[in-house]
Order: sequence, then C-alpha cells, then structure tokens
Amino acid sequence: MAGTERPWDVAVLGAGAAGLMAAAVAGRRGASVLVLDHAAEAGRKILISGGGRCNFTHLDAGPERFLSRNPHFARSALARYTPRDFLALVEKHRIAWHEKTPGQLFCDESARRIVTLLLDEAQAAGAALRLRVRVNDIEKGEAFRLVTDHGDVLARRVILATGGLAVPKLGATDFALRMAQRFGMRLVPPAPALVPLTLTSPAPDLAGVALPVAARIGKTVFSDAMVFTHRGISGPAILQISSYRSGDGPPLELDLLPGMSAEAEMRRIKQARPRAGAAALLEGIPQRLGRAITAEMLPDFTDHLANLPDRRIAALARRVSAWSPDISGTEGYAKAEVMRGGIDTRDLSSQTMESRLVPGLYAIGEAVDVTGWLGGYNFQWAWSSGYVAGIGA
Ligand code: FDA
Repeated sequence: MAGTERPWDVAVLGAGAAGLMAAAVAGRRGASVLVLDHAAEAGRKILISGGGRCNFTHLDAGPERFLSRNPHFARSALARYTPRDFLALVEKHRIAWHEKTPGQLFCDESARRIVTLLLDEAQAAGAALRLRVRVNDIEKGEAFRLVTDHGDVLARRVILATGGLAVPKLGATDFALRMAQRFGMRLVPPAPALVPLTLTSPAPDLAGVALPVAARIGKTVFSDAMVFTHRGISGPAILQISSYRSGDGPPLELDLLPGMSAEAEMRRIKQARPRAGAAALLEGIPQRLGRAITAEMLPDFTDHLANLPDRRIAALARRVSAWSPDISGTEGYAKAEVMRGGIDTRDLSSQTMESRLVPGLYAIGEAVDVTGWLGGYNFQWAWSSGYVAGIGA
C-alpha cells in the first residue's frame, strides 16, 4: 500500500457488522470504498455471536431498548433501517432463520451465513477489503491520511467502525475512542456491559445452579434466567441488568421467586404442612440454593414449621424476594458482550452519524454511546447506524 495511492471516496475502518454494512451501502451509491481491518478475517464477533447462530436482530428494536445519554439519538437511524429491512436482506440471501423468543431472530444454520451476506453485499457494491492492516492514526489535511502498519491511505471521508473494548482477544481496540478524542469529540465513560457480575462472597458450591429471577435496579426489571458462577452470577437476567449498574445508583435487587408473594406463599405452606421442616418453605427454588439460604437464615431451626415465628418467615421471604447481593464488580471486558458508553452522541448527527466537529468523519456501531439490550439489538444498531452513515458518506 503506497502513500501515493489516489484518495478513496470513503475509507471504512473496521470490517465488523457496522463497517461492512456501511461499505455496502456507500459502494452501492457509487463511492469508491476501501475497508481496512487488522484481523485476519472479517466479522469475527458475528461468527461467534448467538452461540454460533447469530441473533441478527430483534423485531421490536425501538429506541427504548437501548441505553444512551441521549435516549432519542438512535431513533432516526433505527427508523430509516429497520429490523424488517435487515430481515429482507437475510431472505434475499436465502438464509433460513427462526424466532427464538418473540421478535428475537437467529440463523437456523451458521452465523457465517451473515458474514458471507455482508461480504457479498460489499463486494457487489464494489468495495475493496484489506485484512491484516492495522490503522494506527488518522491525520486530517485536504483529505484524511490513514496511518497504517502497511503505509498511508488517503480518503475523502472516513467511517470509524472499529467497535468498542469488549473481548480484546477478538480484536477489540480503543482506536475509535482514541480517534474521537483526538478530533475533539467527547466520550461517555466506557464500561463493560451485558457482563457477568462478581460477588464479594461468591458461593462456588452453587456454581451451575440456574433459576428464573426478576432482576431489578430502580425501575428497570428483567425477568429471565440467572445462573450462579464460580465468582458470582450470570445468565440473561444478570447480563441485561448489568448494563444499568452505576456506582451511585440504586442497588441490584433479585427476586428468586418472581411472580408471587414469597411471604404469602411461605405462610400458606406453614399452614398447610405444619409438621414439615423449614426446607419446605423453599421448595419453589432449586434445592442446593434453598439449602444454602435456610442454612444462612435459619441455622438454629430444626423444629416443625408450626413453631417457626411469622417474623422469621417474613425475614426469610425478604431474603428470597429482595436479595441485594454484595457485588464486587464485573468479569470485565474479557467476558462482556459489549461496551457501554463511547463516543458522545452530542458530537454526532443522528441523521448521518457524521461528526459535528470534523466534516467527513463518521462513527458507527458499538464505538458510539448507544448500547442495546441482549437479544439482537446491538447488531440492529450496527446495521442501522452503518446504513445511515453509508448513505451520508
Ligand atoms: P465489531 O467489534 O464487530 O467490529 C470492529 C472491527 O474493527 C473488528 O473487526 C476489529 O478487528 C476492527 N478493528 C479494531 N481496531 C482496529 C484497528 N486499529 N485497525 C483496524 N481494524 C481494527 N449482538 C447481537 O445483536 N446479537 C448477538 O447474538 C450477539 N452475540 C454476541 C456474542 C459475543 C460473544 C460478543 C462478544 C458480542 C455479541 N454481540 C451480539 C454484540 C455484537 O457482536 C457487537 O455489538 C457488534 O459486533 C458491534 O459491531 P461493530 O461493527 O461496531 O464492531
């Protein structure tokens, strides 16, 4: 790659979900497009997503399913390129799909089909792809000069699609954040999201125990499965609520018997089975967990339920229906599905994703402060933001 190369109309940095979508759209509109990625293969996160089947969208991907300092920012892009638009593309490529939970769409076969779809679309649009090229810097002159480990590349417009910090072993870097700052854009502090939590006093003997819970922080509640890990707690309910944790916000509260009043249920059991032991009160939750909770809350009680005072039942019910575990942190970027925070949307156009400070520079995908729930929302954001930037550039 020589520095004397003609300037490309559009350089897309990052051959992930957002970058490949942007490249295909920009190419189809007649721009000369070059995509650069330091990985040996495009779309590595897509390949392992959704357990290898890629949960490629969610049909109910409204802005309320995303976290951002500006909850309205995603609205425009999501409306201009909807989950149905991506589904139409999936069907055009004859990729079989299924709906796992209402609105949550997966490939029947391999996630590789989605990568192939994107590469085919980008190629049909005339976009060039160069892998194993690390972009180290961007300089702005008359055109943008991309400083790579294979020489310089010139481009009139640049789309930053190098993603967030989640899962460095899959090629994640801080490049987008670094470049945004270098060009004066603000950052919302990044943090791991959709990430397992670690507990101050983990219970390794409970590892593997799974149960349905309602996980609540303030007014936000997710009712789904939770699983104990060696260091803490995980599972969809925990990954979802992890995105809502903040240092000074309300604590996490877990209801281990969701959908019922634990205290009313325990009093009913006491009345119906007065000669049973305390374990009968926790028959609604997995046995190993039930035993651990009774050992913690009623260590000295070996009598019949009839002799268990109601105030102790009330305390046990609170432990079960409003458990606030002592959280020491998260499993970090190594285990996070995404990064929250990122490039502050105040410095981007919601119509085109172009920087308000640097004309010709765009940012899309996970690098931007728009973070979806678990369930296909993050890919939909990649497709929608990639689409509008592809049109805009
Ligand atoms: P993405 O990370 O996909 O792409 C960025 C690209 O930039 C990478 O190819 C990287 O190599 C490249 N790059 C970085 N720095 C560079 C540099 N300096 N020079 C050159 N190239 C550089 N979401 C969802 O909706 N459904 C799902 O099923 C899943 N499943 C899932 C599983 C797992 C294990 C993870 C970790 C994540 C998911 N996600 C998901 C989240 C989803 O993968 C994620 O939100 C998108 O891939 C983000 O797309 P981007 O294109 O923004 O970044």
